[in-house]
Amino acid sequence: MRIVGVPLDLGADRRGIDMGPDALRNDGLVKRIADLDIEVEDTGNIFIPRPAPGLCKNPKLKHYDEVLCACKKVRDFVSDAITDGYFPLVIGGDHSIAMGTTAALSKHYKKIGMIWIDAHGDFNTEETTISGNIHGMSFATSVGRGTKALVGKMGKTCVCEENCVLIGARDLDPLEREALKKSKVTVFTMRDIDEIGMYKVMKKAMKIACNGTDAIHVSFDLDSIDPMEAPGVGTPVQGGITYREAHLAMEMISECGKLKSLEVVELNPILDSYNNTGKLAIGLITSALGKKIF
Ligand code: ARG
Ligand code: MN
Ligand code: MN
Ligand code: MN
Repeated sequence: MRIVGVPLDLGADRRGIDMGPDALRNDGLVKRIADLDIEVEDTGNIFIPRPAPGLCKNPKLKHYDEVLCACKKVRDFVSDAITDGYFPLVIGGDHSIAMGTTAALSKHYKKIGMIWIDAHGDFNTEETTISGNIHGMSFATSVGRGTKALVGKMGKTCVCEENCVLIGARDLDPLEREALKKSKVTVFTMRDIDEIGMYKVMKKAMKIACNGTDAIHVSFDLDSIDPMEAPGVGTPVQGGITYREAHLAMEMISECGKLKSLEVVELNPILDSYNNTGKLAIGLITSALGKKIF
């Protein structure tokens, strides 16, 4: 297992998320993984360029140059990890880094399934975005949707839209919602989790993500969890998944045997009032890596 830290917050255009990777390390990430008898190598943080103050070339793609530069580095670090035989654990940083991770996976696998756990869809494009924040566009970009400014800029993508699942959604922008409906992505909203429960949602999700694919990537946005339990995130939204539901999801993912990479994003230590969100994230990572209660 190789940890790649990405202290990027420019895709979210607000400060704090850049401290996410180091907060996870302070909370004992490496030791908790090593305790599972997994060999851990922490390569530290990728260098992120700071933007020129006051300059914003395109308000619909904020901090475009810096985010793209960071994502290309993510792609190269993650790709090297896979070449060297390691399982990549990417810790963010804002969710735009998924564009780099999925580009890396696409160099090594032919047909990739993806489980995107998030309060949001991150399915905007330059055309549909309201905020102009690139972290709201990374899912769409990873399946090849959107403008040339992002799609293909990190290389081809082998993430297969029909093998993609969004879980925990409860805050979608109007045009983003339409785009998701027209797409082949399967969406399980909070209401679906309320109605049929996380166990059945995950059974269906795993079937979709595993169907004919040679790898599964899990992109876990910590804002999927209810802010009562995980307040330290960039963009909190009420009414999220519980601690137990999140663990069940990660345990079921771990049991499928196809998980080839994991990414945990959007931790904001500044807003983490109970200083709990980082520890919670580490617990979820260990569940995804096979930690069992019994
Ligand atoms: N839909 C909003 C936007 O596009 C929020 C996106 C939040 N994304 C995230 N990765 N936390 O700006
Ligand atoms: Mn700018
Ligand atoms: Mn989110
Ligand atoms: Mn997200």
